[in-house]
Amino acid sequence: MGFCNLHGKTMLITGASSGIGQETAILAASLGASVILAGRNHDRLNQTHSMMEGNSHTIFAGDLTNEEAIYALAAQCQQIDGLVHGAGIVGPTPAKFIRQQDINQLLRINFEIPVLLTSRLLLLKKIRNNASIVFLSTIATRSPYFGGSLYTSAKAGLEAYSRSLALELVKPGIRANCLLPGLVNTPLINNPAQEGQMEMVEESLQRYLKKYPMGMGEPIDVANTIIFLLSDESRWISGTSIPMGSVIQ
Ligand SMILES: NC(=O)c1ccc[n+]([C@@H]2O[C@H](COP(=O)([O-])OP(=O)(O)OC[C@H]3O[C@@H](n4cnc5c(N)ncnc54)[C@H](OP(=O)(O)O)[C@@H]3O)[C@@H](O)[C@H]2O)c1
Repeated sequence: MGFCNLHGKTMLITGASSGIGQETAILAASLGASVILAGRNHDRLNQTHSMMEGNSHTIFAGDLTNEEAIYALAAQCQQIDGLVHGAGIVGPTPAKFIRQQDINQLLRINFEIPVLLTSRLLLLKKIRNNASIVFLSTIATRSPYFGGSLYTSAKAGLEAYSRSLALELVKPGIRANCLLPGLVNTPLINNPAQEGQMEMVEESLQRYLKKYPMGMGEPIDVANTIIFLLSDESRWISGTSIPMGSVIQ
């Protein structure tokens, strides 16, 4: 049995069609887990699936801003040992331009989806005792950037939610933790063609990176830590928010 062995465990990963979620799914499978891959885009989910070891994985394609899709995902999935909330969007929204539809969109995806999905899974008793739940926040809740007020508000809410959840779930041994990565090299920042993602022009990228002397991270840097939090090796860690890629406290 190696370190962070996931044999016999089932993991549900949202955002598995891209970036951090995709890398986590691939790594979890290589460590023996069966993975339920959730995302919107079926082709990209299939692509992730084709890069994974093992043949026990399943795919759920649906837009989780639709509560019916959350219900369907929770109903379809078997009991799980780990849950990774990777689905998320970022949108530059300078304070004076914020409209209700921006609030609806950014809070719905970054806050409501993980909260409602967790709630539904708990209600249906789909999360096994001693399971682990991992949320993705951002280092920007500690160290703001221009135009990030809504995104960081949603993620800060998620951190607070995760800490309360950890307390509520102590009895069944279910853990909840939040990761706060700095800038990670994924389509979220590199592919402006997709809705909810932002183009980092070279100039603003360089300005942003000055705040992070450790430089930009790769999806595997975050996936490694997610896997540790999913594994039994981290069984004594819950209710934490862990900054990554930064020396800022
Ligand atoms: N990249 C960074 O610099 C960075 C830094 C800190 C925190 N984070 C956080 O880490 C998480 C993963 O980010 P990433 O960089 O890996 O992003 P990404 O590559 O853009 O992937 C985002 C994922 O979210 C899914 N998604 C978006 N809206 C959805 C919806 N309505 N319903 C279902 N799925 C939806 C996408 O599905 P489809 O592809 O199918 O549309 C995709 O799989 C996010 O929560 C993000 O806020 C990222």
